[in-house]
Amino acid sequence: MKKLKAGIIGAGGISHSHIDGFRQLSDVEIAAISDPNEEKLAFVAEKFGILKRFVNWEDILKEPIDIISICSPNAFHAQQAIAALKSGKHVICEKPVAMNVEEAEMIVETAKQTGSKFMVAFCHRFAPHSQFMKKMAENGQMGEIYYAKASYLRRRGIPGLGTWFTTKKLAGGGPLIDVGVHILDLMIYIMGCPEPDLILGVTYNKFKNQAVDGGWPPVWSRVGDRPTGIFDVEDLAAGLIKFKNDATLFLESSWAGNSETGLKIALFGTKSGIQYSTSSQPPLKIYSDLNGVVADTTVEFPSRNVYHAEIEHFVSCVKNNTQPITTPKEIITVIKIIQNIYKSAEIGKPIEF
Ligand SMILES: NC(=O)c1ccc[n+]([C@@H]2O[C@H](COP(=O)([O-])OP(=O)(O)OC[C@H]3O[C@@H](n4cnc5c(N)ncnc54)[C@H](O)[C@@H]3O)[C@@H](O)[C@H]2O)c1
Repeated sequence: MKKLKAGIIGAGGISHSHIDGFRQLSDVEIAAISDPNEEKLAFVAEKFGILKRFVNWEDILKEPIDIISICSPNAFHAQQAIAALKSGKHVICEKPVAMNVEEAEMIVETAKQTGSKFMVAFCHRFAPHSQFMKKMAENGQMGEIYYAKASYLRRRGIPGLGTWFTTKKLAGGGPLIDVGVHILDLMIYIMGCPEPDLILGVTYNKFKNQAVDGGWPPVWSRVGDRPTGIFDVEDLAAGLIKFKNDATLFLESSWAGNSETGLKIALFGTKSGIQYSTSSQPPLKIYSDLNGVVADTTVEFPSRNVYHAEIEHFVSCVKNNTQPITTPKEIITVIKIIQNIYKSAEIGKPIEF
C-alpha cells in the first residue's frame, strides 16, 4: 500500500511529538521539514532522518505531501494553514488555531472550499479521562451542565521566556492563549459547544521581574534560538463566560502566581458532577446521588500518549474521509472566547453578543 507523506512546518519543541506520532504509524512517512532556523532544521532533520529540508515554509508546499503539521509560532498558523489547504494538503495545526476569529474563519472556509481535512491539535481531548467526561455528558448521565470551572495554573515558570511565546505580536497573548486554550477547548467540547452570550475578562502581569524559565520548549530543542527578551503579554488571565443556554464557565490560567498549581476542571450537572484535578489521587471524582443519598465515585484510567493518539486520529480521518474531532463551530467558538476575554480585559467592561 502507498504510504501517506507528512511534512512538518516548524521544528521546535512540539514538532518532536508530532514526528514521533507519525513514526508510530506504518503507513505514514515523514517526507520533509521546514524551519527558518537552519541550525535547528539540520538538528531535527538529522535526528529523525528526514531528507528534504526547507528554510522557507512555502517551499515544503511544492512537495508531493498529503499531510502538513503546523508547529510554528501562533502568528503564522493562519497564513500557513490556508496556503497548505490551497495547495491540496490536509492540515493538522497546533493550538491556538490562529490569532483571532477572522483568521480562524478564513481557515475553516478554505478547508470547506478545498475539501481537505483540517484539525486543531487539541491533545487534551484524547486523554482517557476527557473521553470519559465527554461520554458522561453526551449520554445524559450528568443531566444539564449548568456551571463549570477550569483552571491551569503555574507558580513561576514562563514557557519560552523572552522568545515568541512572550511576544504579543507573535503569540497573541500569554497563558490564556497558550495553556488556557486547552482547557477552554475541553470544556466547549464536553459542554456541547454552547454559544457565548456575555464574557468578562481580566488579565494581569505581576511577575515580570520575577520571571524564570519554565523549561518549555525543552532546553535540548532550543538549538540556534535567539531570544529577544521581550515579555509584553499577561502572566495571568481569567474569564467568566455566560452562554446563551444559561450555563456559565469560569476559566483561569497563569504562568506565574502565588497559588496552587496544575490543571483542574469541574462540571456541575443536575444528575451528577465531575471534578478532575492533576493534584488529586485518583484525579477524577464523580459527585452524584444514590437513592437520595449523596455519593462520591472515583475512577482511574490507563495512561495514554495523547500526541500519538491525536496524530493517529487525524491520519485515520484522512484515510477514511471522516470528520476530525475538532468541528468548525468548536474551533471558532474557542478563539472567539479567547479574543473577547482579551478585549474585555483591555476595555474593562464585559462583552455582550
Ligand atoms: N499541544 C501542545 O501541548 C503544545 C505544546 C507546546 C507548544 N504548542 C504549540 O506549538 C507551536 C510551536 O510551539 P513550540 O513549543 O514548538 O515552540 P518552539 O519555539 O520550540 O518552536 C517554534 C519553531 O518555529 C520556528 N519558526 C519561527 N517562525 C517560523 C515560520 N514563519 N515558519 C515556520 N517555522 C517558524 C522557530 O524557528 C522554532 O523552531 C505553538 O503554536 C504552540 O502554541 C502546543
